[in-house]
Amino acid sequence: MRARPRKALDQINNYVAAKTIESVKREHGLDKIIKLAANENSLGYSLRVKDAVKQSLESLSCYPDMNCTVLREKLAEIHNIDKEELIFGNGSFELISIVAQTFLEENDEAITVDPSFGWYKNVTWQMGGKVVSLPLKNFKADLTAVMESITEKTKIVWLCNPNNPTGTIVQKSELDRFLLNLRKNIVLVLDEAYIDFVQEEDFPDSVSLIGNYKNIIILRTFSKVYGLASFRIGYGIASKEIIGFLNKTRLPINVNTLAQVAAIASLEDPDFKKRVLENNKKSIELYYDAFDKLGLSYVKTNCNFILFNTGLDSEWVAGEYLKRGIIIRAGGEFGLSTWVRITIGKYEENELVIQILKELLEENNGSAI
Ligand SMILES: Cc1ncc(COP(=O)(O)O)c(C=O)c1O
Repeated sequence: MRARPRKALDQINNYVAAKTIESVKREHGLDKIIKLAANENSLGYSLRVKDAVKQSLESLSCYPDMNCTVLREKLAEIHNIDKEELIFGNGSFELISIVAQTFLEENDEAITVDPSFGWYKNVTWQMGGKVVSLPLKNFKADLTAVMESITEKTKIVWLCNPNNPTGTIVQKSELDRFLLNLRKNIVLVLDEAYIDFVQEEDFPDSVSLIGNYKNIIILRTFSKVYGLASFRIGYGIASKEIIGFLNKTRLPINVNTLAQVAAIASLEDPDFKKRVLENNKKSIELYYDAFDKLGLSYVKTNCNFILFNTGLDSEWVAGEYLKRGIIIRAGGEFGLSTWVRITIGKYEENELVIQILKELLEENNGSAI
């Protein structure tokens, strides 16, 4: 007799993470790697974080503050919400898991769009839930289709806004309409990991909704615009009642001291954030211009990544970039076999990406489409 995992786990494939810089260095014998595959921050993080982390090294033999008190106070002030309307997690990955553990019974349904952030599906399956996956319409979440797919068994709607991997948004008017008709016992998760990069107007002010809608959970992360991906810290905003439920499934000590200290320091450096956003905007324009000239189709992005159609086999394209020391994401996993998703890098890194793209297209007789 062998040990068997829970039946619900049978349908789960391990989560596909981007290759790490170290593994690519070893595999390809390269010493310089540019990683543009996991939407991290190419400009690093604020120098204030470095100083704050150094100063906190002395205290690492003690358990962290399990309530994230200082950070909680700071964010409550920034968002003009109550301190009890916040929850912290080991990145928003953990918060997504906590939401599923809190609300899903076996055979409950959770709706997501496709392609979107893959972790929503995994956590739903982990709980024995059923994933209802709806195709995007013109690369955008189709809330009409979501509403039509709701059944008695629907417990959660996972909405990534802006959406990873497309960078598209659900606008305020669309969300308002959807919420008016959404049953109050369905949890709507608004994963706003990329909110800081949004360029389109009419993006919903989700925090202002939690007073009226007790069934919304907003997720934010310090991994993207603040560049703290390795520290592991994200947070959720919801009604006190919902936060109370979520706390029942949270590990008591889930956010380490360095992560808390780094997050606080990063909030105190608006100039760093400004530089990141300026680089992002300038770089996106560089990409749009290049794609237009090359006749390639792309999706206008509100994030720190861009999805575009190379017209070539994207696995091959990703392999060619890898040989040149650049890690990108092939679109096959998103059901888009000729598309790739590239994280916005430093300006000169983006220029290099475009240069290589031109070479690859030329190698293929310029047959881009
Ligand atoms: C949409 C989305 N949500 C959540 C996460 C997880 O972020 P973290 O756990 O680093 O906060 C990511 C990471 O790429 C993401 O793209």
